[in-house]
Amino acid sequence: MARKEVCCGLSALEVVLIVLFVGMTGVSVGLISVMATVWISETTQPEPTFGPTQAPPENHFLVGVGRADCTGPVGDVPLMGYATPDQTAGGLHFRLYSRAFIVDDGSKRVVFVTADIGMASQRLRLEVLKALQVKYGDLYRQDNVVLSGTHTHSGLGGYFQYTLFMISSKGYIKSSIQPIVNGIVKSIEKAHKSLRPGRIFLSRGELEDSSLNRSPHSYMNNPEEERRRYKSNTDKQVSMLKFTDMDGDGMGTLSWFAVHPVSMNYTNRMVSGDNMGYASYLFEQEKNINALPGEGSFVAAFASSNLGDVTPNIMGPYCLNTGEKCDYLNSSCPIGGTRMCAGFGPGSDMFESTRIIGENIYKKAKELYGNAKQELRGSVHAAHQWVNMTDVTVQINSTHTAKTCKPALGLSFAAGTTDGGGDLNFTQGAVEGDPFWEGVRDALLGVPSNETQDCHEPKPIFFNTGEMNWPLPWHPQIVDVQILTIGSVAIVAIPGEVTTMSGRRLREAVKQELEANAGFSNTDVIIAGLCNIYTHYITTYEEYQIQRYEGASTIYGPHTLGAYLQLFRGLAKAIAEGRESKLPKGPEPPFFSDSQLFSLLPAPPVDRKPANTSFGEVLEQVYPVYKVGEVASVTFVAGNPRNSGDMTDNTFITVERFHNSSSKWTIVHTDASWETRFHWVKGSGGQSNATVEWHIAPSAQTGTYRIRHFGHYKQIKIFKPIITAYEGMSDAFKVTRAMGYWS
Ligand SMILES: *[C@@H]1O[C@H](CO)[C@@H](O)[C@H](O)[C@H]1NC(C)=O
Ligand SMILES: *[C@@H]1O[C@H](CO)[C@@H](O)[C@H](O)[C@H]1NC(C)=O
Ligand SMILES: *[C@@H]1O[C@H](CO)[C@@H](O)[C@H](O)[C@H]1NC(C)=O
Ligand SMILES: *[C@@H]1O[C@H](CO)[C@@H](O)[C@H](O)[C@H]1NC(C)=O
Ligand SMILES: *[C@@H]1O[C@H](CO)[C@@H](O)[C@H](O)[C@H]1NC(C)=O
Ligand SMILES: *[C@@H]1O[C@H](CO)[C@@H](O)[C@H](O)[C@H]1NC(C)=O
Ligand SMILES: *[C@@H]1O[C@H](CO)[C@@H](O)[C@H](O)[C@H]1NC(C)=O
Ligand SMILES: *[C@@H]1O[C@H](CO)[C@@H](O)[C@H](O)[C@H]1NC(C)=O
Ligand SMILES: *[C@@H]1O[C@H](CO)[C@@H](O)[C@H](O)[C@H]1NC(C)=O
Repeated sequence: MARKEVCCGLSALEVVLIVLFVGMTGVSVGLISVMATVWISETTQPEPTFGPTQAPPENHFLVGVGRADCTGPVGDVPLMGYATPDQTAGGLHFRLYSRAFIVDDGSKRVVFVTADIGMASQRLRLEVLKALQVKYGDLYRQDNVVLSGTHTHSGLGGYFQYTLFMISSKGYIKSSIQPIVNGIVKSIEKAHKSLRPGRIFLSRGELEDSSLNRSPHSYMNNPEEERRRYKSNTDKQVSMLKFTDMDGDGMGTLSWFAVHPVSMNYTNRMVSGDNMGYASYLFEQEKNINALPGEGSFVAAFASSNLGDVTPNIMGPYCLNTGEKCDYLNSSCPIGGTRMCAGFGPGSDMFESTRIIGENIYKKAKELYGNAKQELRGSVHAAHQWVNMTDVTVQINSTHTAKTCKPALGLSFAAGTTDGGGDLNFTQGAVEGDPFWEGVRDALLGVPSNETQDCHEPKPIFFNTGEMNWPLPWHPQIVDVQILTIGSVAIVAIPGEVTTMSGRRLREAVKQELEANAGFSNTDVIIAGLCNIYTHYITTYEEYQIQRYEGASTIYGPHTLGAYLQLFRGLAKAIAEGRESKLPKGPEPPFFSDSQLFSLLPAPPVDRKPANTSFGEVLEQVYPVYKVGEVASVTFVAGNPRNSGDMTDNTFITVERFHNSSSKWTIVHTDASWETRFHWVKGSGGQSNATVEWHIAPSAQTGTYRIRHFGHYKQIKIFKPIITAYEGMSDAFKVTRAMGYWS
């Protein structure tokens, strides 16, 4: 084992780095925990509480859609997903958004949110629910609001309250979670304000050539008769809800497709929505005519589904060094081991791969949107419970029961996947063979109890997170399970990453329970992944036996899926029988106080500039002329983007075009645009550069352009930090078409 990918957690390497850091500096983690930064939350005026007042016309719904920026500070904060310690934010590829959909049937209301982030976390959800409570009273609650993440691996981390995730993202970072909370709340607020009578249509189709199973060996361990029922080892379906007003004008669309947004690999440092974010971008740009990205009322969301074992790197894994195929069973290479095995494609680099997969998803969605005819009618329902996932008794068959386990991660968790990759051969032997590391590990991480070891069989335990509670629990015990229904569609909110077959089993179970009631005949069940709280992976019992990365990351043991099947069946049955409001709430999850959380991310240092320059000054100028298809690039003396504070709905860069007739410059691109890349490069001694690239699309208008950059720098004056805004501007340049190409 050696690699680090991983959605999400942290690598063995990372724990070791933390331990090393603690060891070398002699600082105890207890002290570090005191370093939590102070967050002064915005005080918002409570708005009057809106009840579900306006009754929609018969057989229709009240529908609201909203989108809001949730990008966060694009410097220094670790990106959430690959758990690669040096993959910290260094700029912005394109902005991240939270997208919210509200449906009201005249008496009940449900909300589904998907944000361009790695996953929803329990902390994030609790903070969002608190803010909603202040604004709307009991209108938006834990039972009728689902929060999910697209699972982009290029969003920011730092919004978790359990120790393992805090370690992998430099702690709990107020400046990182705050924009996500605000963005989600604002998207719900916008959806709330846009509520109007509307119609909802379901459209389903299949998308080929955009996903591949990355653990086929695990999948093959599922029973043959079960596998035979499916034509592929990943789910190809795209499920879409189309929202229109009563005139049939489109308000928005919400789609689910099962694929990891890991087209951008772990070498990327720019915050990015990856393939799913790009699909949203394309759809919204098409519908919001003449709007800059992130503007316009049409909302197109692409949410995650049963993507646990699904990669977008469809050329498959091969050995980086020799070009051979990786070993089928353990994804390792003859030379260099597992670290040399990586998945690629379909593009020649990660940007092209992101573009191709994003475009494929968008095109399929556009087709489904055009064909959407099946109108949803009826009412909405929401069922939610908190469950102690360490303590679920699973009925295996008529005579036998089994139990879920205290959370633990197996050895292969540290091996990562073919979407990740690392640069160290980190093996357990190497750790255990070293008396120093062994000592620190035992002191810090503890030795798993026999009970936990037995419970997780055949998983060899690496991180015994369920028995590690210092300084705070390493993994959650209390987990959300939740189902929303809108007419004949059920959305199953899964608190983690379900594999293809796990998703299929859950879908079937929920469908069966709902359809047992006449009111729910012909229900379409949608698996929504990465919802509400992150608990890593959920494999089938059979896949778990193989203990590849996904099985090793199924933290509540071999019967995790069995427990969820039982729990979601319970929710579905309650909805079918109309008693979802009577379900026991279950044990409430903890909300650790800020003083218990810790941050390992120091405040940004004072910004410095090279001698005889000023902030915003151009260090590398644009060329005077570019042809479409080329890349205009300019480098500025920059400040740390974190010193710009909340750049929500703002931009670090503009590309502006000169209009001769009015002698005015108008903005054609911002940092939310796909065509632009804002690279923030941190140098030594507080110096940094901002390089702005404009990848001039073939469709760009010819003419005169300039690029501007906006930032802030920090100085200390009389012991006080002073933040000053600066601006930079490139020379004007011309964009032309190639010879023989009329403009
Ligand atoms: C992977 O499996 C192959 C056999 O299929 C074996 O030769 C190789 O040693 C294994 N590699 C690792 C790193 O376990
Ligand atoms: C990593 O492990 C593989 C397989 O055991 C081995 O071939 C390779 O040399 C190792 N690499 C390093 C850097 O130790
Ligand atoms: C990541 O993508 C870049 C190109 O965009 C490529 O050079 C690099 O090899 C990729 N790395 C891996 C591990 O896929
Ligand atoms: C969850 O269940 C375990 C096992 O019964 C128990 O020890 C633990 O206290 C429970 N956790 C919570 C938060 O109730
Ligand atoms: C129930 O499951 C247990 C454990 O897998 C098995 O030993 C037993 O034979 C099963 N019983 C029935 C009736 O299927
Ligand atoms: C755990 O299991 C080992 C091996 O079976 C045994 O030697 C040891 O006594 C057990 N520990 C406890 C606390 O029961
Ligand atoms: C900065 O400007 C001053 C005055 O023009 C000059 O003497 C000095 O050499 C310059 N320093 C550098 C590093 O260019
Ligand atoms: C722009 O306007 C100026 C004067 O208003 C004129 O001289 C020039 O030819 C114009 N250029 C173009 C490209 O239209
Ligand atoms: C900034 O750009 C200049 C000019 O290309 C280069 O000399 C310098 O090393 C860069 N500094 C950083 C921090 O990258």
